[in-house]
Amino acid sequence: MSARVQQVVPDLVEAIRDVMKKHDVTFQDYGAAMQFLINVQETGELPVLVDAFFNATVVDIENATRKGTKADIQGPYYLGADAYNVVTDKLPHRPEDAGAPDMIIRGRITDLDGNPIAGATLDMWHSTPDGLYSGIHDNIDPKFYRGRVITGADGSYSVSSKLPVPYQIPNSGPTGLLLEKYLERHSWRPAHIHFWARADGQRDVVNQAYFEGGDWVGDDCCDTDHLDLVVPELIENGVRVMEVNFALEPAVAMAAE
Ligand code: DHB
Ligand code: FE
Repeated sequence: MSARVQQVVPDLVEAIRDVMKKHDVTFQDYGAAMQFLINVQETGELPVLVDAFFNATVVDIENATRKGTKADIQGPYYLGADAYNVVTDKLPHRPEDAGAPDMIIRGRITDLDGNPIAGATLDMWHSTPDGLYSGIHDNIDPKFYRGRVITGADGSYSVSSKLPVPYQIPNSGPTGLLLEKYLERHSWRPAHIHFWARADGQRDVVNQAYFEGGDWVGDDCCDTDHLDLVVPELIENGVRVMEVNFALEPAVAMAAE
């Protein structure tokens, strides 16, 4: 790691210095930037800030060499593998969300040739029907809107849940202030479902699926906009079906880098 640090950090510092010189940064600017970072630290928003600006870049770099299903940002709210209980038919939802619109998430996990992968694990997490994350916001029990499915012999999985809605990244703190007030950007993400697919011998993939026709699709404040992960509208018996398939490349592809 220290070799990696020696490779990257001097260039990073130099790039920042170049920007400072380009814009004749003053002590006043410097102080304001320092105060901004102190505010980020004090509000615990560091992961939110960094993810909003840079997570999508790592994804783009990774996707340049990735075969099969593309990666997307993980976001700050995975909570760790322990938060995922195996589910067979539905992701648990809060009792008060019983009347919220249902959705079905289903698909298959295969290798690059389309051969089914049985026993693959797929962790899923998404917002409540009012745009909050369990385990993060409002003391919502982390068991809600999270779950792990194991694919069957044909590589398939299917669970029901409640439709997520567009998500506004925290905008009362420094990140939102920067985006909305100073950069005059919005702080919305399109409604999405997070996934982490893993299978023995395959390279795992973290991504998200988006709802075709949904607000903010193609105009994500986190700059993701992977249009290949936008799922066409399919309604069965009045329920939105999200068909999300994963083609995983062999894990050796990574070791070869
Ligand atoms: C953020 C939250 C998310 O749920 C997500 O998918 C991406 C980013 C955030 O708050 O920065
Ligand atoms: Fe999210």
